Amino acid sequence: MERILVIGGARALGAAVARRAARDGYDVVVGARDVTAADVLAREIGGTSVRVDLQDESTLAAAAERLRDGVDHIVSTGSAPHDVRATELERDRLLAAFTAKVIGPMLVAKHFAPVLRPTGSMLLFSGVVGWRPGPGSLVKGVTNGAVEYAVRHLAADLAPVRVNAVSPGVVDSGTWDHLGDDKTGLLSKSAAGTFVGRHGETGDVVDTVMWLLRAGFVSGETIHVEGGARHRSA
Ligand SMILES: NC(=O)c1ccc[n+]([C@@H]2O[C@H](COP(=O)([O-])OP(=O)(O)OC[C@H]3O[C@@H](n4cnc5c(N)ncnc54)[C@H](OP(=O)(O)O)[C@@H]3O)[C@@H](O)[C@H]2O)c1
Repeated sequence: MERILVIGGARALGAAVARRAARDGYDVVVGARDVTAADVLAREIGGTSVRVDLQDESTLAAAAERLRDGVDHIVSTGSAPHDVRATELERDRLLAAFTAKVIGPMLVAKHFAPVLRPTGSMLLFSGVVGWRPGPGSLVKGVTNGAVEYAVRHLAADLAPVRVNAVSPGVVDSGTWDHLGDDKTGLLSKSAAGTFVGRHGETGDVVDTVMWLLRAGFVSGETIHVEGGARHRSA
């Protein structure tokens, strides 16, 4: 049975990946900074849990030590948005955003390289904003763009372990629920900006993740799951 560690696995897209992976027969380790939430999901799906905080390297080292008998796949969904204009940037939040998406996963590679099985893979999360600049999306855009380069270079560094990214468009993953009634507006605006005329569903992303885990001849790639939004002019 292949073992998969899902970082950010206790909620939203990470939890959906963990649930599907368990259903598909993987040995799932739910990694999250809230280990209680990770534990609840792990028990529900018959997996295990481990504390992983992408902002705290010691938790990455400890998790790799706990899983030292081998890991096949690592999926990292972490994100720490800082959606402001350049004039409002806060250095700590800027660093946290880069750490969640880029620096943290690079340190995951550092600690897990010795335990990742050679037929396995790492999967990072980018996002469509990396290719659609706009006011207030500076940090999200640059960090998502950096993920594309991170997977190319990590793929070379960790070879033959494959390293790829999924870049979703706007997906109703639960992450937008805090917008309340405004969520509907966001989802319909994003649907209008695609070729397929709808917003993304969690299943669209999970299907792609599960395919990438098995896609043995794909490495260093960013797979766009956004209905063509990058290519639409308006
Ligand atoms: N949903 C979308 O519309 C969309 C669009 C484009 C790109 N994406 C990208 O897809 C990925 C997953 O999206 P989502 O909708 O599931 O996002 P989300 O709701 O923001 O979830 C992000 C996950 O990252 C975890 N996380 C944040 N900081 C962490 C840290 N320091 N250590 C470990 N885990 C940490 C969160 O865990 P906590 O519970 O501990 O906060 C949560 O599980 C993200 O990278 C996001 O940027 C999503």
